[in-house]
Amino acid sequence: MPRISVLPSAVADQIAAGEVVERPASVVKELVENALDAGATSVDVAIDEGGRARIRVSDDGTGMDRDDAVLALSRHATSKITRASDLVGIHSFGFRGEALPAICSVSHLQIDTAPSDGAGTRIDASAGAVVSVADAARRRGTTVTVSSLVYNAPARLKFMRGARSEWRAIVDALTLVALARRDVRLTVTHDGAPALTLPPASSWRARVAALWGTATAERLLDVDDVAGPIRVEGLAERPQDVGTGTRRIFLAVNGRAIRDPGLVRAAEAAYRSAISAGLRPTLLLALTLPGSDVDVNVHPAKAEVRFRDRWTVERAVEGAVRRALGTLDAAAAIGARRWWSAPGEAPLPPGTVGVEALHAPVGGDTGPLFDRAPSSSDDLDTSLAIAGEAQATIAARVDINEPVTVPPLTQWRRTYISFEHEQGLVLIDQHSAHERVLFERFMGVLERGEAPSQRLLFPITLHLGPAESEAFDANRESLERLGFEVEGFGGHTLIVRAVPMPHPRFDPERCLRDTLDALTGDRVASTAARHEKLAATVACKAAIKAGEALSPDEMRALFVALARTTLPAHDVHGRATIVRVGWDELERRFGRR
Ligand SMILES: Nc1ncnc2c1ncn2[C@@H]1O[C@H](COP(=O)(O)OP(=O)(O)OP(=O)(O)O)[C@@H](O)[C@H]1O
Ligand SMILES: [Mg+2]
Repeated sequence: MPRISVLPSAVADQIAAGEVVERPASVVKELVENALDAGATSVDVAIDEGGRARIRVSDDGTGMDRDDAVLALSRHATSKITRASDLVGIHSFGFRGEALPAICSVSHLQIDTAPSDGAGTRIDASAGAVVSVADAARRRGTTVTVSSLVYNAPARLKFMRGARSEWRAIVDALTLVALARRDVRLTVTHDGAPALTLPPASSWRARVAALWGTATAERLLDVDDVAGPIRVEGLAERPQDVGTGTRRIFLAVNGRAIRDPGLVRAAEAAYRSAISAGLRPTLLLALTLPGSDVDVNVHPAKAEVRFRDRWTVERAVEGAVRRALGTLDAAAAIGARRWWSAPGEAPLPPGTVGVEALHAPVGGDTGPLFDRAPSSSDDLDTSLAIAGEAQATIAARVDINEPVTVPPLTQWRRTYISFEHEQGLVLIDQHSAHERVLFERFMGVLERGEAPSQRLLFPITLHLGPAESEAFDANRESLERLGFEVEGFGGHTLIVRAVPMPHPRFDPERCLRDTLDALTGDRVASTAARHEKLAATVACKAAIKAGEALSPDEMRALFVALARTTLPAHDVHGRATIVRVGWDELERRFGRR
């Protein structure tokens, strides 16, 4: 007796169903994706008992004629590809011709459909077999009704969870669709009661507001950036809010919601030094890239994709989020959180990534935080020496020759510097701001070269304890790069011959001691993490302090240097360097409107 036999197709369909019909939510997802593939602009979903009793998805898409509708229920029947090469660069959600037959094999399925120019058809099918085909009156589009899901596959029934948790999974699946395709109108009812009503949204923010409320929407910054052929759009949480509410993650590639921990990590990397370690931001990001650069046919539920050049995609994501965090909108605000006049819709013209993108938030009417000067350089050669040194090291990221317009600045309480901005009053914390400037400068130095240092007329002698000595030995090379020229003098004695000179009131001895103290007992694994820790520590100790009077030239130099950092609104601990009060907020407070 032969031991191998080809399975009857009904059995094969049920096996395929195991992948497609994992639970009611996956059925909903497949049906909605079919509707979207059919060009629907409006999709209505009705769910009964968490999808176990009934799932109905109606669309206003192309519909099917009778032959196609019957064919759609057979395995590998698809209108979306005809040859293997069509899989490259595919833009439809479906392509396998598997979903409907698999769903049908474990349910009662009814299709009502009509093309724009033909008669309507109603097909009833059960357990994988067509039961009846009849005329039906309906407008263009398709309604698929799935009832008694898994009624003929009891083995799977017991794996289905309760109606409530199935319903939650359905909401999650539909949320992904709603975010991926905000142009589509989507309504959902559960047991006859309206659950979600989402009109077509013109912006990400509008769709997020419709899903989770305006308070959530207003915590988020616009992301919109182009790097080569890759466009990254979406919303990212304002650093000051990270960790204070529900965290949400959403990623889409070419309109398809996907999971991708690597991309999430890349986006999170943009927050490094802007939020406390361990906090995870809400991120909603949609990537658009050439179809030939991404393979969607690598995962049974199409929930993952493979990139031809993952590294480049990750850098694009990190860069896009970082640029969003570098805008004025990212700065802490008093009163109204939102600092823009119109939600950003204008697409970024390709090729404008760089200085422009850094200084001018894209879309909307938000003015840049730091205006670039129209003509001649306004650079300052000042005793604070911040600007000049910042230039030397930040050059790799920002065109340092780009002049910055400096508005009139005023110092308050020897701590804050204020200036007038088109959209409100802005306050800079001088210590935090200088810390940010020095941090980026030191990172540049540690990664790319040596900093100018100042020879001391009278070398300093330092006596260290054993732990401090050890910290010095572990970081000696990096400290030298930062501009400390140090000689060991046997035992625990150091002679410091040259030091970095970030400003005239800098106290090198105190800085070096405090830094070694902070690095004591530190066992940070990677070089990058060690550099970051060191740069942040030295920056903190070396920065001008609160309570120091600054001359007008020093303030201007600090302003210019801050303008050239990548994250001007945040210091290295994730605290604000800039606080803003919108004119509209002031008008509200003064009862002017
Ligand atoms: N709502 C709909 N409107 C119009 N045509 C549809 C609709 N749903 C399904 N079809 C047609 O039926 C075919 C089969 O659908 P099915 O979901 O089984 O496969 P698919 O979408 O091509 O691929 P996949 O299995 O990856 O989803 C589709 O290719 C499409 O031509
Ligand atoms: Mg499909």
